[in-house]
Amino acid sequence: MSKRGACTVVVGCQWGDEGKGKIVDVLAETVDIVARYQGGANAGHTVHVGEAEFILHQIPSGILHDGKRCLLGNGVVLDIRQFFEEYDALRERGIDLDGRVGVSYRAQLLLPYHRLMDQVAESSAAASDKIGTTGRGIGPAYEDKAGRRGVRVVDLANPQRLAKRVDVAKSRICERLDELGSGATDALDRAMDEALSLGERLLGLAADTGWELTAALKDGRSVLLEGAQGTALDLDHGTYPFVTSSNTTAAAAATGTGIGPTAIGSVIGVVKAYTTRVGEGPLPTAFEPDMDAHIRELGGEFGATTGRPRRCGWFDSVLARHAAQVNGLTGLAVTKLDVLDTLSELQVAVAYRMPDGSVTEHFPADTWSLSELEPVYETLPGWEAPTGGVTRLEDLPRNARAYLDRMEELTGAPVQWVSVGTRRSQIIPVG
Ligand code: IMP
Repeated sequence: MSKRGACTVVVGCQWGDEGKGKIVDVLAETVDIVARYQGGANAGHTVHVGEAEFILHQIPSGILHDGKRCLLGNGVVLDIRQFFEEYDALRERGIDLDGRVGVSYRAQLLLPYHRLMDQVAESSAAASDKIGTTGRGIGPAYEDKAGRRGVRVVDLANPQRLAKRVDVAKSRICERLDELGSGATDALDRAMDEALSLGERLLGLAADTGWELTAALKDGRSVLLEGAQGTALDLDHGTYPFVTSSNTTAAAAATGTGIGPTAIGSVIGVVKAYTTRVGEGPLPTAFEPDMDAHIRELGGEFGATTGRPRRCGWFDSVLARHAAQVNGLTGLAVTKLDVLDTLSELQVAVAYRMPDGSVTEHFPADTWSLSELEPVYETLPGWEAPTGGVTRLEDLPRNARAYLDRMEELTGAPVQWVSVGTRRSQIIPVG
């Protein structure tokens, strides 16, 4: 992993939920600072430490390692209330946070009207237009950012400016809510007061993350940049419009923290050994219903943020190759290999047969074609043996190693880590 002074990005290569939280938690031990670069409380990173389970939504998973500094970069949309709920809950569970959490002055505030707007927009959209968002206000907050109406952490330091900016953004959203037949309520006003009353406390954590990270790297300290969601949910490179509202991919790690792209030395792509998706939008390699239910149960495939069941499918190397290209992957971390332990054979999508009969190995831009195409599968033998206790690559069953070799060949990125269970110890370093 990272040498001192190195900067590594960890990015999801599917539709999120690849197990980035666990990989970041493992890698965090070897770095000095961990920073989130996009997204908000839509993320749900699950980490197991001993018998304890932690689900982190906004604070980087690195927080579970004593002494590591954790930053939320400018690319994040920060829900202040939820942020402090998470912060206080960690403290109550004995995590020492003093001086360890920093929030970019340039990060956008996600305020209660964003959440309300997200939920109302989703529930009033026609079935075919629903995105299946997490309802956390992410889309409306990024809309305000791009529309230059956003309120940033730094604005909290100037109450007059803050009130003016909040008023402009809130009135606009309230007009829209009225049009949708769901006017602003007293509850919204109370939530706004509650959120803004935490402003002073948030300012106490504010930092210039780009400056801090650049100085740390110059000083020879190492940094991990933690992505949320996954490549197929990226606003530009994902299955648009069934995506999240930020760039989830590795290049955004520079923009979203304020470091230069040349500072990034390696990019680790996290892929689940199969595929899952939560929310609306196509999943080309979806399992048949029985297998879907079986793997969902074995893999505990329920959203960490919303509890929604995730749809499951075979490993899709067309998507993984797309992720390798878009992110410039230098390595892969394969997760949840153990979930496939009982299968007698496995399928891997190696290409797509498009609706016009042509075959392509290239992830198509036309999202709707993904629901109509037929994946071209290759069948590989299963290993039908437990892998959860394996700690060295050479001790994995031969067919499991062959499966990993094939993932590597198909994506063009070397496998560097294999996770075979939820515990910290259930990870196999490769090479
Ligand atoms: P939003 O990010 O809440 O706007 O949701 C947009 C899409 O991204 C929906 O399909 C969500 O289910 C999906 N999504 C957002 N965050 C995550 C995540 O952390 N894991 C998996 N899917 C996510």
